[in-house]
This record gives sequence, C-alpha cells and structure tokens, in this order.
Amino acid sequence: LSRSELQPDGPRDPPLRSALLRRALDELEAVVVIVDAQGREVFRNRAAMGLLGARHGDALIAAALTEALTSDVTGYRRELDLLGPPRRRLLIRGEALTEDGEALGRLALAHDISEQAKVVDVRRDFVANVSHELRTPVGGLVSLADALEEETDRAVIDRLVHRIRAEAQRLATLIDDLLSLSRIEAEGSVGQRRRLAVAELIAAAAERMAGAADAADIELVVEPSPDAVVVGDADQLISALTNLMDNAVKYSNAGGKVRVAGSQHRHSVDIAVSDEGIGIPAEDLDRIFERFYRVDPARSRRTGGTGLGLAIVRHVAANHGGEVLVASQEGSGSTFTLRLPGDPRSTP
Ligand SMILES: Nc1ncnc2c1ncn2[C@@H]1O[C@H](COP(=O)(O)OP(=O)(O)OP(=O)(O)O)[C@@H](O)[C@H]1O
Ligand SMILES: [Mg+2]
Repeated sequence: LSRSELQPDGPRDPPLRSALLRRALDELEAVVVIVDAQGREVFRNRAAMGLLGARHGDALIAAALTEALTSDVTGYRRELDLLGPPRRRLLIRGEALTEDGEALGRLALAHDISEQAKVVDVRRDFVANVSHELRTPVGGLVSLADALEEETDRAVIDRLVHRIRAEAQRLATLIDDLLSLSRIEAEGSVGQRRRLAVAELIAAAAERMAGAADAADIELVVEPSPDAVVVGDADQLISALTNLMDNAVKYSNAGGKVRVAGSQHRHSVDIAVSDEGIGIPAEDLDRIFERFYRVDPARSRRTGGTGLGLAIVRHVAANHGGEVLVASQEGSGSTFTLRLPGDPRSTP
C-alpha cells in the first residue's frame, strides 16, 4: 500500500477512494489491521472488528496481532493454534509499510490456514500408513525367502511357498485398493453417467461375492428390489457394493446370513447390506470410513483387510451426491446403507 498505489487513476475524490478501499478490505475473510508510523491504529477491517468481542480465541488473536504490529521484524510470521471448538490454525503476518525508505506504518494480517494444515497432515499420515502397510508383507516375504533357502524338506518348502504366495497376494490386493481409491478420488465425480437399474447393480456385486460367501459358509440373500434406477458409474457403484458385501461376509461367523436390499424412497434410493456378524463398537463408528482404520487390526489381517474398503465406499457415495450410513450393534450385526439420489425421471 504505497502512496502511489493509493493514488491510481481511479476516482479523483480522495474520500470516495478511501471509502472504496475500506469497503474492499471489509470483504476479505482475513483480518487486517493497519497502524501509522507512530503506532496509532488507522484502520481495521470488518473481520478485525469481530475480534473486539470477549471470546478467549479472539483475545489470543488480538494479542498476536498486537505483537505483529509492534514487532520490528520486517516480514513477521507466526502460526497460532486455537483449540476451539472448532480447532483452527491461523497464520499471523506483520509487514512494515514503507515508501522510499520512509516508514509509513505497519500492517498486521491474520488468516485461517486450518484447511491447508489439515491437507498437509492427511497427506503425511497417508504416506506413513501406506509405508507401514507395505512394510509388513514385504518383511514377511523376506523372512519366508530366508527360511526357504535353508529348507530341504519338501513338505515344509510347499508350506513356505504357500505363505509367500499369500503375502504376495496381500500386497497385490493392497496395491489394487490403493489404485482404485486414488482413481475414485481423482475422478472426483462420476466417470460414466448412465441410468442404472439397482437390481442389476446388486446382482453384479452379489455374483462377484458368491464364491467368498460360499467359502465362508455365509448365505447371501438378495431381496427382490423395486424398479429403482440411479444415475451414475456402474463400475464405481458395483465396487462400493462389493466392498460392503465383502465386509458383511468377512465380519460374520460361519452359518450367518448377509442380506442385500434395494428400496426406493421419495428423494433417494437406498441399498442396504445387513449382516448378523460381530458388529462395530459405538466408539469406532465415526472412524471406520477413514483410510486404513480397522477396529481389530489382528482380525482384519487374518481376513486380508487393509482398511481401505469403506474409504472407497464413502468416496463413491460422495461422487454420486449420496452418502453411506451405518447402524451396528456389537455382537449382533451391522447394516450399511448406500443412499443415492434417485433418478428424477423414475421417482414415484
Ligand atoms: N460389516 C461389518 N461388521 C463389522 N465390522 C465391520 C464391518 N464393516 C467394516 N467393519 C470394520 O471397519 C473396518 C474398516 O472396514 P474396511 O472395509 O474399510 O477395511 P477392511 O475390511 O479391514 O479392509 P479392506 O476392505 O480394505 O480389505 C474393518 O476393519 C472392520 O473393523
Ligand atoms: Mg473391507
């Protein structure tokens, strides 16, 4: 904000010009406070007015701004964490305003960088998680290979080879899941938009799951669906349903039933996958949709789970403008519902 910048070819009338600048700064979400060379406050935008309140967080921001305005550091920078709620992270900046070497005053800014900070955290966690998840089967492969090298007994060799194959399979599944998650996230929306019969989506997913259900001695019951139609990407939707059915089968005990039912509502189409399995503790319900989150990592490892399935389901739902709901009772079973917007042309 040098003097010359304050005097562009705009309105000739100085009061009008400063009124315009003031209004423009009021539109910013960032907090802006300006003091003159003597340290007297000459301007505060609307966001900064809000800080005059009595809230604790506001007092912390005000104190940080005062520091930024009185500091003699040229480019003052500081991050301020507010515990909230909501938790926020602010970047506080202080800049000397000078022209031709002459001090005009100082500017302090505060803006919310919580979203950026979250993205950085998520990315860091993700890399750490992926590395950890890859490390385990790779470590297993190395020690199995070592054991194999010294082995002469044919039966033991066969067993080791079998385990090597299983670890390699685990790695392949993990990589496939990562690739499909990244594809679904990158698509950010629906790849191929088609009108799809819900009954056909369910049938396709059930067909993929038939073998696994059989092997686990689980009866897969597909309830007759109404003629519901959704608009979306068949691959993504079938993959979401397969993931839900896969969980329902994996987290059930032999002899149990898994039911899949489509239903048409006024504004949505629901596809519910219910099981009579182990259920999910209430305190974990919020977290199971996070990438790599597993209620019981040991059980999940035995069943080959990587904790990416529900993250995929949630993304698919979001890409279609829908959501996933869960209701569960520990020890008696869970119901996951994929809720999609109905096709307006087929809403009753
Ligand atoms: N139907 C269910 N019954 C009980 N627990 C479930 C059910 N579905 C999911 N969970 C729990 O939620 C966790 C996360 O599920 P998710 O599908 O994301 O991962 P996973 O099944 O462990 O691995 P993946 O699906 O990537 O192979 C599971 O580890 C399990 O603890
Ligand atoms: Mg799963």
